[in-house]
Amino acid sequence: MGQPSKSGDGTNPAGVWRIFAYGPVQSTQDIALAEARSLLAAGELASARLAFMASSQLGGRGQFNRPWQSPEGGLYVSLLVGSPPPAFLRCMSIASGLAVCELLENRGITGAMLRWPNDVLVDDRKICGILTQTLMQGPLVAAVVGIGINLNTPLALLPANLRSRATSLLHITGRWFDRAEFLDALLKQLDATITMAAAQGESAVVELAARRDALRGRRVELQLEADTVSGIAGGFAPDGALLLSHDGRTQAVLHGSITAVDGRAIRAG
Ligand code: BTN
Repeated sequence: MGQPSKSGDGTNPAGVWRIFAYGPVQSTQDIALAEARSLLAAGELASARLAFMASSQLGGRGQFNRPWQSPEGGLYVSLLVGSPPPAFLRCMSIASGLAVCELLENRGITGAMLRWPNDVLVDDRKICGILTQTLMQGPLVAAVVGIGINLNTPLALLPANLRSRATSLLHITGRWFDRAEFLDALLKQLDATITMAAAQGESAVVELAARRDALRGRRVELQLEADTVSGIAGGFAPDGALLLSHDGRTQAVLHGSITAVDGRAIRAG
């Protein structure tokens, strides 16, 4: 596709983040990663805080390169965090999910839960997906946190096979949410979580996230790099690993993808 239309380049009211708002794009994640690469190459990364938001995505990506449906109405944003505090970097999936849960709560959506590592659920249906990626060059680190929230998304705009497993703020409340205002609140919430991780360490963030653990005590199927394991989720280790009891032992899993909960598949493909 051609050059995306970028409408407005502002800062959020707190002044920390520079915001780039686009119309339809392929993927905000690609835009943020390209910007991170060029800032790293130019030696200008420092503590950049850039937010790339689009009205829709034609090639939205989720974890493990799955497609992420991105129709008009959703909030699609990739946040570039230059030189993040190491403690945030160590727990950024869970920390970003926690920030979204707390934001939803502040907007009157009760019972937001985390499906490890960073899916956000309401009523056991997915309302937000998060894709975290890091780039490194020597001692420099750039984190890119891609967040997709079903904001003003009529469920009818999602493919039929996702509808029963997804929800949106519009669907839950019957109300329409201002996207720019919502993004501003999200940035503030994420700033607060980054500050907390830096000041108190990742275990403090993980402890808060554990109160929103949607999987604890449930049977889950987990796709690891080479194989699939099934077991009972037993909460989080202080570093954010999922504790999985199976075959008479407890395994701490740092990277993996939940494919089924209580015997019910949760992924489209
Ligand atoms: C997942 O649930 O697997 C993660 C979904 C992440 C989607 C967001 S939307 C903004 C950013 N751009 C993308 O292409 N993906 C992320």
